[in-house]
Amino acid sequence: MKTVYIYMTFVISMIVFLLPLNSATEKSENGTTVPPETTLKPKTDVLKSDICTKCSCDAKNSLIDCSRKLANWFSPEEWEILQNGDITFETMKLSHNNLTNIPALPTYGVKKLFLDYNRISSITVGAFQNLTELTKLDLSNNQLTSKALIPDVFKGPYSVQDFEPLKNLKSLNLGYNRLHLLDDDLFEHVPYLEELILCSNSFQVIDKQTETALSGCSSLKVLDISYMELKTLPETIFHGPQDLDTLIVSGNLFDKIPKAFDYADNLKRLVLDENPIGNLEGDNIFPAMTSLQYLSCAFMPNLFKIGSGALSELQNLTELILSDNTQLIEIDSHAMCKNVTGGDNFDYPPLEKLYLNNCNFTVLPRDLIVRWDKLHALDLRYNPWLCDISNEYMVNYLIQHVNKSTPILASNVICENPTELKGLEVLNVSNNKLLGVLPSGASWVWIGLIIVLLSILVTLSGLLVYRRGYCGIGKKKESARRALYSRTSFNEDFHI
Ligand SMILES: *[C@@H]1O[C@H](CO)[C@@H](O)[C@H](O)[C@H]1NC(C)=O
Ligand SMILES: *[C@@H]1O[C@H](CO)[C@@H](O)[C@H](O)[C@H]1NC(C)=O
Ligand SMILES: *[C@@H]1O[C@H](CO)[C@@H](O)[C@H](O)[C@H]1NC(C)=O
Ligand SMILES: *[C@@H]1O[C@H](CO)[C@@H](O)[C@H](O)[C@H]1NC(C)=O
Ligand SMILES: *[C@@H]1O[C@H](CO)[C@@H](O)[C@H](O)[C@H]1NC(C)=O
Ligand SMILES: *[C@@H]1O[C@H](CO)[C@@H](O)[C@H](O)[C@H]1NC(C)=O
Ligand SMILES: *[C@@H]1O[C@H](CO)[C@@H](O)[C@H](O)[C@H]1NC(C)=O
Ligand SMILES: *[C@@H]1O[C@H](CO)[C@@H](O)[C@H](O)[C@H]1NC(C)=O
Repeated sequence: MKTVYIYMTFVISMIVFLLPLNSATEKSENGTTVPPETTLKPKTDVLKSDICTKCSCDAKNSLIDCSRKLANWFSPEEWEILQNGDITFETMKLSHNNLTNIPALPTYGVKKLFLDYNRISSITVGAFQNLTELTKLDLSNNQLTSKALIPDVFKGPYSVQDFEPLKNLKSLNLGYNRLHLLDDDLFEHVPYLEELILCSNSFQVIDKQTETALSGCSSLKVLDISYMELKTLPETIFHGPQDLDTLIVSGNLFDKIPKAFDYADNLKRLVLDENPIGNLEGDNIFPAMTSLQYLSCAFMPNLFKIGSGALSELQNLTELILSDNTQLIEIDSHAMCKNVTGGDNFDYPPLEKLYLNNCNFTVLPRDLIVRWDKLHALDLRYNPWLCDISNEYMVNYLIQHVNKSTPILASNVICENPTELKGLEVLNVSNNKLLGVLPSGASWVWIGLIIVLLSILVTLSGLLVYRRGYCGIGKKKESARRALYSRTSFNEDFHI
């Protein structure tokens, strides 16, 4: 009996002893079970630590911002605070710190690491090996050379057989460095890279090595190779990254549409801004890029004309940006339509947004698009528009459509010619009230009355002029009247 009693007491005291431990484990980790050892070791209150006095810590956004705050990398003690912290910062900003190299970084659950605007010229082999959660790495605005950027800097964690890849790294920014080519195998340890930014490195040419490196990025979706002094692209550049959907090649030296685009079947977005591409006509036109939805050709200094068929093969285009081409004076009415069934029918892209602002357009051809009414955005501002019959569709219909859908885009659409209308808003000239579109219903009665009254007036004044012999009066007002006449005639043609 006594032994049983002792045994029972022992069991009960064990339960009492263990109970708070169990509940503590559950409470602290919000339902997820963790090995008890970690709960026994108290977590550091990171927000109250020195590191969060030095840097700014934002627990809500899981962000630690040490930009302009560090003379050097975190000390081993500081890393330890972070590693044992009650919060793991998913975003770490270490920008503008004059750091010159990247050492092998200790294990930490950071997902986005910003090391931009430092003076980094060397990276230790396997520097990011223990940052297995890393998805985004920003190394832009540093002093990295092609020589320093070897494949092994991206080496992943060591496993029994081999080095594993940095399998979570999706986005890598190498912009604004001193690179002029990429090592063939640069991306061998980061095979799942989806976004690569190389802008503002003076490559001048994408050589064989660089092309091989890029074709190693088979998961690549976004490639930014702007401002790299490139004259063209290698014809086979799209063979490797088959899933590439966004290409940014702004600010290069292209004077023609690169032949490589013939093979850019899956490209959805293309930015060609600030290239000295000449007139889009003849054989300098866009090839069939059937997936392309977004095309930007802005700030092109040498573009005067977009000819027939120039954009015809882009039959999936929804957004076209042609703004700030200060010399661009003409877009052919057949620039976008595609000839089908031997010329009986035309196909048009399903355009939703069209930006033609800040160019040198005077006239917008009505047949450029059929379903103008499907446009959500039409920017016609800051062009020297011609407000006469040759541009009637824009002056009378399109500007009204713009005023209804996006009123902000309706102002600053201004007549440059004819001189009588110079400086007036196209919207104010549109459907001139007195000579406007034919009204309907009861207004006919009023119109009738006005016409009768006017004709009486005209007859009377005619008689007066005849009797007084003021024949010169007609000549003086002739030019103004011509403007009115042409407006009248295009108003009569007008129908929605
Ligand atoms: C606990 O988990 C829920 C849902 O999983 C989450 O919304 C909540 O923020 C968590 N609380 C803590 C303290 O982590
Ligand atoms: C980096 O160097 C510049 C110039 O030498 C200095 O002005 C700046 O304070 C330094 N930044 C940091 C974070 O130490
Ligand atoms: C990275 O992790 C490995 C294995 O856990 C460890 O041996 C190594 O010391 C770590 N490296 C650093 C710099 O902490
Ligand atoms: C054109 O775009 C639509 C969606 O906007 C898409 O479903 C279709 O597959 C695209 N066509 C091609 C050839 O990519
Ligand atoms: C715009 O076109 C006119 C001719 O219509 C030309 O005289 C003028 O120089 C052009 N403006 C610019 C900025 O190229
Ligand atoms: C369309 O095709 C017909 C017959 O091939 C041709 O006569 C016509 O000029 C073409 N139109 C355009 C705009 O390409
Ligand atoms: C432009 O639209 C506004 C309403 O958004 C309307 O009040 C105005 O009369 C319109 N202007 C013209 C000239 O139709
Ligand atoms: C256009 O008309 C509006 C009101 O009708 C007026 O406030 C505006 O000054 C006019 N703008 C121009 C440039 O004529």
